[in-house]
Amino acid sequence: MTPLLEPQSSPTSNAVASTPSSAPTTHRRLLAWVSEVVELTQPADVRWCDGSDAEWDELTAELIASGTLVQLDPQAKPNSFYARTDPSDVARVEDRTFICSVDPADAGPTNNWMDPTQMKSVMTDLYRGSMRGRTMYVVPFCMGPIDAEHPMFGVEITDSAYVAVSMKIMTRMGAEPLAAMTANGDADFVPCLHSVGAPLEPGQSDVPWPCSDTKYITHFPEERLIWSYGSGYGGNSLLGKKCYSLRIASVIGRDEGWLAEHMLILKLISPAGRAYHIAAAFPSACGKTNLAMIQPTIPGWRVETLGDDIAWMRFGADGRLYATNPEYGLFGVAPGTGWGTNPNAMRTIDRGNSLFTNVALTDHGDVWWEGISEVTPPHLADWRGNSWVPGEATTPAAHPNSRFCTPIRQCPILSSDYDNPAGVPIDAIIFGGRRKTTVPLVTQARDWQHGVFMGATLSSETTAAATGAVGVVRRDPMAMLPFIGYHAGDYFGHWLEVGKQHDAANLPAVFYVNWFRRSADGGFLWPGFGENSRVLKWVIERIEGKAAAVETPIGYAPTAGSLDVTGLDITEAEVAAALEVDVDEWRAELPLIEDWFAQIGDKVPTELLTELDVLRGRLGG
Ligand code: PEP
Ligand code: MN
Ligand code: NA
Repeated sequence: MTPLLEPQSSPTSNAVASTPSSAPTTHRRLLAWVSEVVELTQPADVRWCDGSDAEWDELTAELIASGTLVQLDPQAKPNSFYARTDPSDVARVEDRTFICSVDPADAGPTNNWMDPTQMKSVMTDLYRGSMRGRTMYVVPFCMGPIDAEHPMFGVEITDSAYVAVSMKIMTRMGAEPLAAMTANGDADFVPCLHSVGAPLEPGQSDVPWPCSDTKYITHFPEERLIWSYGSGYGGNSLLGKKCYSLRIASVIGRDEGWLAEHMLILKLISPAGRAYHIAAAFPSACGKTNLAMIQPTIPGWRVETLGDDIAWMRFGADGRLYATNPEYGLFGVAPGTGWGTNPNAMRTIDRGNSLFTNVALTDHGDVWWEGISEVTPPHLADWRGNSWVPGEATTPAAHPNSRFCTPIRQCPILSSDYDNPAGVPIDAIIFGGRRKTTVPLVTQARDWQHGVFMGATLSSETTAAATGAVGVVRRDPMAMLPFIGYHAGDYFGHWLEVGKQHDAANLPAVFYVNWFRRSADGGFLWPGFGENSRVLKWVIERIEGKAAAVETPIGYAPTAGSLDVTGLDITEAEVAAALEVDVDEWRAELPLIEDWFAQIGDKVPTELLTELDVLRGRLGG
């Protein structure tokens, strides 16, 4: 382990004294920050991560020794590992997530807020000595390509080796971004401080998944600074992801005129060989990864993947909107992922080099989860480590929010543009939620402003991706409710503003979809998965001016014949029910939208209040 430091003089402390002179960088702000954190958190040693395969081997071996990881059978999943978290640390904690802007009005009503000085004082007390007995990892990374015009650097300091190895998958991490940070003078970076909050006293033995009952996931938007404490789980601890690439980046985008969004990015190639790019926003655990890797069921159409969770979108010199995926890996919800639903995700993880968290384990050292296969093995170890037998067990074998973490480069249908710093031009933006009623399979916005209204009023039933009740309908604007780093009303204003600043003809067309509508008997009205390619086809044919639509109170809907259902085992009545714009259901939706805007308060842009009036008028309400 390099580099170890001379022990501190104090006999009561096993903490290192200062930043090692052997630190592999000259970056002054970084060195100063590392020293400061060492002094505060008192780790037993410091390791600068270089992102090498040798380092991966060392850290995964240490994590096996400490009981955090189990190596999977290399025949089944080469170079892959399994982790079980503490049962209390299984999802993002939205109620413990804070936007600590100087002015509470900049955090807005949808975020938790605390005064930054107060939050820093609370958390500094928590961090004091919090890494005692542990190694502190310094993890340099870049969100998006390192050769971007303005590379988006970050450095995560963490006392979790699980976080360090996960960051190797999820970001461009290690020596290369660190060197790039000093290539043209000291570059800016987002400091991301993370501690599991479980110091080890001398002689105290570790647990497989150290964490704390006290959790804070905090953001200081003016300083572009992230502090996280108490959780080792995904979105709470891999700070390049939600914290940096959505919450902090949305603030940077607001200030600089671009968009940081909770969107997949895909390339769709028509039978005529024309390529289109689509960005689509769905709340967590609503199928972004599946849609990003969709295998179209309609002949002649092909999809390539660019990203499954986050899109950074900037306007190009030609006035079009270009998207890049800042991530380097996929952190997907495992349950429901299988050869039938997402064969490309299965091929991606089968190439190995992956981490699995809170799934079930077979007796042969492979992973298993609900939906991965038709047959359930006769015996499993469930996500808590208990013996699990199908038919006898009363709880799922895999946690509903269990995850695979895998390099995006292993995706067999990856677009060659995934690493292109210029991004890809977006032709269509799709918003979607999980609703049993009301929201039809697909509608198209009349224009950008109407599209922003669709996004701003997006609703969805809650999932296991965050702690709290599941299945509750809530507004989830642009699928960004937990991720907007500032006031939601200002965020809507920013969306409207970027539309006004650009030629309408260059803006992406906007659509709203719902794969999850149910019939009266409770069954899904639409088969979903690969069949969603039929909706993508309609989207593209709308852009090409080929597909017919009828104008409804909520936007343009497919005519009976314009949605291609050739070869699909579905009745005309079922298609009609999936597409139906039910005026009574939408009248019932109006007060919910009114309540939502009332909650946002006087920062709701007047354009969106106008859209609400128009909707009310069209519904005859
Ligand atoms: C996460 O839960 O850690 C996470 C990345 O969230 P999401 O499901 O929104 O991608
Ligand atoms: Mn997500
Ligand atoms: Na989540």
